[in-house]
Order: sequence, then C-alpha cells, then structure tokens
Amino acid sequence: RSTLFPYTTLFRSLELIYPRSFRDLNGDGVGDLNGITLKMDYLSDLGVDAIWISPFFTSPMTDLGYDVADYQNVDPVFGGLDDFRMLLDEAHARDIKVMIDLVPCHTSDQHPWFVESRSGRDNPKRDWYVWRDGNDGHEPNNWVSLAGGKSWTFDADSGQYYLHSFLPTQPDLNWDNPEVRLAIKDVVRFWFDMGVDGMRVDAIWGISKDPELRDDTVNYDFHGDSNSYGAYIHDHCKHGPHFQEYLHELASVCDEYDDKQMVFEFYPDERLGDIWRQYHDVIHVHPKATAFFMEHRQNDWHGEHTGWNIMNYLEATGENTPFFCLGNHDQPRVTSRLGLPRSRALQFLNLLCPGVSVMYYGDEIGMEDVDLTQHDAQDGFHHSLQDDRNRARTPMQWNSSRYAGFANVLPWLPVHPNRKQVNVAKETKDPGSLLWLCRKLLELRHELPILRHGTMEKLDTGNGFVLGFRRQLDGQQLQIYINFADSAQTVWLPETGRVIIGTNPDIHVDGDVLQLPGYGGVLIDIK
Ligand code: GLC
Repeated sequence: RSTLFPYTTLFRSLELIYPRSFRDLNGDGVGDLNGITLKMDYLSDLGVDAIWISPFFTSPMTDLGYDVADYQNVDPVFGGLDDFRMLLDEAHARDIKVMIDLVPCHTSDQHPWFVESRSGRDNPKRDWYVWRDGNDGHEPNNWVSLAGGKSWTFDADSGQYYLHSFLPTQPDLNWDNPEVRLAIKDVVRFWFDMGVDGMRVDAIWGISKDPELRDDTVNYDFHGDSNSYGAYIHDHCKHGPHFQEYLHELASVCDEYDDKQMVFEFYPDERLGDIWRQYHDVIHVHPKATAFFMEHRQNDWHGEHTGWNIMNYLEATGENTPFFCLGNHDQPRVTSRLGLPRSRALQFLNLLCPGVSVMYYGDEIGMEDVDLTQHDAQDGFHHSLQDDRNRARTPMQWNSSRYAGFANVLPWLPVHPNRKQVNVAKETKDPGSLLWLCRKLLELRHELPILRHGTMEKLDTGNGFVLGFRRQLDGQQLQIYINFADSAQTVWLPETGRVIIGTNPDIHVDGDVLQLPGYGGVLIDIK
C-alpha cells in the first residue's frame, strides 16, 4: 500500500481492563472501579493513552457483566456512578481516554425490559425480544447458542420460546423493532454525554437475523455433538439483511459529537465467505467505526501468514482506524498460547503497527493462563475446565505477595503461581523485562507519528523465517524485522540503517547485514 493512512486516531494505544481482576479496593476479593482509579498512574507510566473497561453495569453476573440488567448504572460489586465519574476525571486528567463496553444485542433476563416482555403476549415490550411459537413441540428452528445448547428457551407461562444467542439468561433484543434501536442509542448518548470517549460494541454479528428465522445449514464436515456451534454453518442466525444498516445507525450516534469512536467485536466466519470482505464490510459501516484485528488469536507462528493477515486487515480498514490486538478476555493469553519468547516478539510487532495497539491487562508483564479446579469460580460458557475463559481472567500480578497486590483477601479467582517471577514490581526494576520493553515501545508510539500514521508494506526479506515491513511517513522510513525461527537468522537489508529498538539489547546492524537471534525483533531507522 503506497498511500498514507489518513485516519485520525483519538488515541494510539489501549489497555483492556477486566474490572473484576485489576485491583480490589473494597475488600471483597473482586476488582472495582476505585481500584482502576488507584492504578491510573500505572497506566499513565505504562504509556497507554486509552483504556477499555469491560462491563461494570448492574448485572446478575451469569456472564460476568455481559448480561446487563441496567445499562445506565454501576453494579454495586464495582462501585457506583460517582466512582465511575471519578475514574473518568482521573483518566482525563492524565490524557487517557476511556472506552466502555456496549452490549446491544442482548440484555439480562432480569432487565426490566425483559421482565415486562415476558409478562404476557400483549405486553408492549413483547416485541422488544424475539418470541416464537414452538414447531410441533420443538424449538422454532435449529439454531444453537455460542454458549452451548439450543438458542431457544421455552417460557411455560406464555407458552412461547424466546431466542438467546448466548446463555438462556441473555435474551436477544429484537433490533428489527425501531424502539429497541432508539433505546440502545440513548444508552450510548448517556455515556457519551458523561464524557466517555468510545464504545467497544459487543457481539454484533447477531444484530440482524434472517427475518423468516430459517434453519441454519447443517455442517456435514463436523463430527461432534449436533448441539455444538460447529455443527452448523451460521447462514441464518447472524449477518441478516439489515446487518450493516443497524450498525451504521448505531455508529451514527458518534456524529452527534466531535470525538467519539466505536470498535466492533467481530469475528469473521470463514464458512460464510471471504473473511477480509467481511472485515471490510463491518469496518466501513461508518467512518468512526472499526473492528478489532482478531487473527493473532490463532497465530500459527508462520511469518508469511502473520504478515499477510496484517496486510489484508490494513487493506480492509482502509481509511478507518485499525485496532491491532493479540487477544482479549475470551481467549487464552498470548504468552500461554505461544510461550514467552514468541509472545514477546509478537507483542513487539503489535506495538509497531499503525492505528491503535491494544494490550490485554497483564499481557505487558507476560501473565499466563491459570489451571482452574472444579472449586474455582467458573465461566457460564465453559464446556471443560480446559477451555474455561476464566483461565485468562485471573488477578493482575502487581507484586509477589500472596494475593499479588490485587487484594487483601482471597480473590475471586486464584492468582497464578508464577506471581513471584511475573509481576509489575519486579519487572519495573528489570530493564530486560517484557514490561520494560512494552513501556519503551509505547513511548516510541507517542514520539513517532510514523508509527501511528505511516504506511505499512510487507518486505521480501529473502529469508523465509524473517518477516519484514517498511513504514513510511513524510520522507522518513522505518523497517521492522521479526525472526519466526528459534535459531539466529541473517538478513541483508535493502538499505543501511540504525537500530532504534530491539526485543533483545544486543541486536545490531553491520553495514547492510542484520543478525537476528531466535524470535528476535528489531525496529530500524533507514537513513
Ligand atoms: C462477547 C464478550 C464475551 C461475552 C459475549 C456475550 O463475545 O466478549 O465475554 O460472553 O460477548 O455477551
């Protein structure tokens, strides 16, 4: 790509905070908003200029906050609205923008809208959700839920089924009803008016469904349980005819303000066609909208694949802002997936990509997934302890103490046993640590506009193990090289240059010869 990325970014880096696990101040073993406020200096020193806090709204917590019972209030476990206002002030005082989660496609079954909707077929809110008669004593169609099992639950009192793309406690809102769309847009305005800078929009793929609710196509390539998500090609339960239109309408609330951003949670589905076309179509619903790059979550540690995924995503984002991330609260942690040396290299690359670079809390120190036991708090979606999402949601490791400086009482999830080696206090003192490297890279992102706004092209490095990129802006040129092999590799540079920063301190360029250690990465300034 030879043209500049013209997008204007509100921020350049973002830390995703899972509020239950960042810092507990009120002594109940669960993190809270005041805990985040207390750690605002840490975030500022780290060098991120935005945070995204996953849901802290009133909720029965069957999906730990993604089951919202009141969109405009704070759950007591996290604090109150005044605590949130204070958090916002403290963040803004440090030039840190605040994004929060919007969960527009479903509510909790305890939300007053659903309580009303459920109360009878004639209730004016009945049509705010998706209610249908059974089909010969069975569910209305064959749709299955991402949380496991059927997408329909029978309500004996009114004799109909309601639809839920996730847990039965998360009934789907009916976006075909204009009143629903207005109500959710008012939620966005409520938070934007308070000063929130952006929204991460949850699980958008089901915002529009097949109006006739036809069966999903059976996936004959799948040989597991017929009630599992993989057993179907999801050609009717999501991406319906109004998909882009509803997303556009939602993102258009940003037009009422000068400086707001929306980032969609979107996982393209390769069984529904070209994934880059799907990214493109979602990202381009509105100039102030975009979607996270999710392809690193299944990084197969192949340099060419990684390089082309990045380039294809940049092509798909075009003039809209790219949001590069390595994972989130739903995925195994990057260090557990790849091991520390590889994850360090990938984090290095992630922080040198254009637009916004996203870090999941704790990834900056190399936190790993925890082995859970039957007795630990469990994720409502879990099918086995092995794929329980809570493995990647354990308390932030601030120091080496018993509860890692997260809480003074037993935390809601166990602290990783590696807390003595992997923690903020220790890594702050160690120039060789991942934390130190992330801070340096975030500082560079701040100092060098080329890293946010410059072009990015893939280079042919002449070495199949080494991935290379060229970044350019206003006559300045930087090159990035990442070694995907565990052994040292040599690359002959197209131009000579000077090392700005590397994953390891001893990486240097000798004339036009670059020697990269195993899993090493480097940023070079080309003269
Ligand atoms: C998103 C969230 C996830 C949640 C689901 C249902 O994928 O990231 O944590 O369970 O939506 O709201």
